[in-house]
Amino acid sequence: MKITSTLNGPNMLETDESLTLKTESGEQPLKSPCYLCRCGHSKNKPLCDGSHMAAKFEAQASEIVGTKKA
Ligand code: FES
Repeated sequence: MKITSTLNGPNMLETDESLTLKTESGEQPLKSPCYLCRCGHSKNKPLCDGSHMAAKFEAQASEIVGTKKA
C-alpha cells in the first residue's frame, strides 16, 4: 500500500488489495488509486471532489509506503 500526499491536493491511496468505503449509509467498493480529501472542503468526504482547487489549498507533497512482512 502506498499513500501519496499530492502537492496542494488530496492523499492518493494505491493498493493491490480491494478497497471498501464504509459509512453510516452503507458500503461502496473503491478502485485503486482513490483520492482522500485532506483540505476539509470536499462535499463527498472522505473522498476528494476537487474542491481543494477552489479553496486554493496549499500543502507539501509526501509519501508513505507500506511493505508486507514475510
Ligand atoms: S483534497 Fe480535494 S477536496 Fe479536499
